[in-house]
Amino acid sequence: MARKKTNYFCTECGWESSGWLGKCPGCNSWNSFVEVEKVTGKSRKPDQPSRGNWAATERGRTAGQNKLMSLAEVAAGENIRVPTGITELDRVLGGGLVKGSMVLLGGEPGIGKSTLVLQIIGSLPAGSSLYVSGEESSAQVRMRADRLGIDSSGIGFLPVTDFAGILEAVTASEPEFLVIDSIQTAYVDEIVAAPGSVTQVREVAAGLLRLAKSRGITVILIGHVTKEGNIAGPRILEHMVDTVLYFEGEKLQDYRMLRAVKNRFGATDELGFFTMGDQGLSSLEKASEMLLSGRPLGVSGSVVTSTIEGTRPLLLEIQALIVPSSFAAPLRMAQGLDRMRLSMLLAVLDKKTNLGLSGMDAYLNVTGGLRITETASDLAVLSAAVSSIKDLRTYYDAIILGEVGLTGEVRGISQIERRLSEAERTGWTRFVLPAANKTQLDKTKFGNRLELYYVSQINEAFDLLFP
Ligand code: TYD
Ligand code: MG
Repeated sequence: MARKKTNYFCTECGWESSGWLGKCPGCNSWNSFVEVEKVTGKSRKPDQPSRGNWAATERGRTAGQNKLMSLAEVAAGENIRVPTGITELDRVLGGGLVKGSMVLLGGEPGIGKSTLVLQIIGSLPAGSSLYVSGEESSAQVRMRADRLGIDSSGIGFLPVTDFAGILEAVTASEPEFLVIDSIQTAYVDEIVAAPGSVTQVREVAAGLLRLAKSRGITVILIGHVTKEGNIAGPRILEHMVDTVLYFEGEKLQDYRMLRAVKNRFGATDELGFFTMGDQGLSSLEKASEMLLSGRPLGVSGSVVTSTIEGTRPLLLEIQALIVPSSFAAPLRMAQGLDRMRLSMLLAVLDKKTNLGLSGMDAYLNVTGGLRITETASDLAVLSAAVSSIKDLRTYYDAIILGEVGLTGEVRGISQIERRLSEAERTGWTRFVLPAANKTQLDKTKFGNRLELYYVSQINEAFDLLFP
């Protein structure tokens, strides 16, 4: 007799519980639990898979598969990487798609996920890929391929969203690359839950994972991101897949950023830049130039600094607007910066100068939609603030670098040589740097070519920049 059992899932993060909960212990969201009927082992038909156990889908497990063995007996096998030829994507992936890996590509609707995967497929050998689309009709995909100038003859296309159908097509055509557009439209028929629900997303992903690993197929999953920035069941998906890429950008602007937030085969926090044009996405290798384009020259409240994203140094502009406050507690607004860090930095500035920050509202902005997570731009943030308060542009058009401590000291920063190289490449010659980095830089030739000004206190920097 089949046992019917129900379980409760958090729709936000996939937390599983045997009873209903008001607040999710996993992600702290309220009223997010839904009841889902569970297919238990006993009720399962012989060839029907259960969660995470899709090996069984391969119509019966081969005997001896579960044999215990020493890890040394396992052939080490190299990671075979297939470069896609899309330079910025390869950079983010760490050199290319790893055979048999599973990549999750997340992003808001309309950001360009389908465009990117179609371009990836277009760059792969003809006949090696299968594109499963539950989002768009075959005609739509064909039209897009034509627009992108991709030869569609070598691309397998399957407008099916049922897992069994996908499995059948994979078995028949044996592709090397499988794209699922999107995970939210795919479903397993045996499971009583709507496509896109946590249960379905997790069942389908588990099934695809088995496919990827058992047959060495590289799977790219597309996942829509909700307004809150989550892929449905993000935690389940994120720990299941090898690589998580997020596609970001302002839809109205034409540049896009691809960020690796998890990568078992490369560096995380790697950033790739693209521009979206009439013929799809093009890699943008010179991102610093793009981030600084449109920077107002000779105005107050704007400075340039350098930040490291993954393995890549980037130049970016920090803008500040400091105005008298009409509030009892002055405002501290930050776009692209940590607000707590900003409050702390402004408190240091207040203590170490007589600029009277306690009565002023501060608005700080990192242009280009980037988020600074490191402290090397502290001094630049404060320099932008001082520039705005004094309504003076900086005397030198310089790259400003340095971490600021609570006593107003300017502390050394990491990877300074790479930052200088990137800035030099884009034509910058003047730098305000922490004195702590001087010994290190004296060993290099930068001092011969560039004007390096070293400071050890924030006031030294301000004396230099606003004489
Ligand atoms: P799409 O890849 O469909 O986004 P997603 O799959 O993430 O929902 O991209 C949609 C947008 O991209 C759409 O607004 C049109 C634009 N686009 C271009 O600007 N140029 C192009 O060559 C293509 C194919 C799309
Ligand atoms: Mg799409």
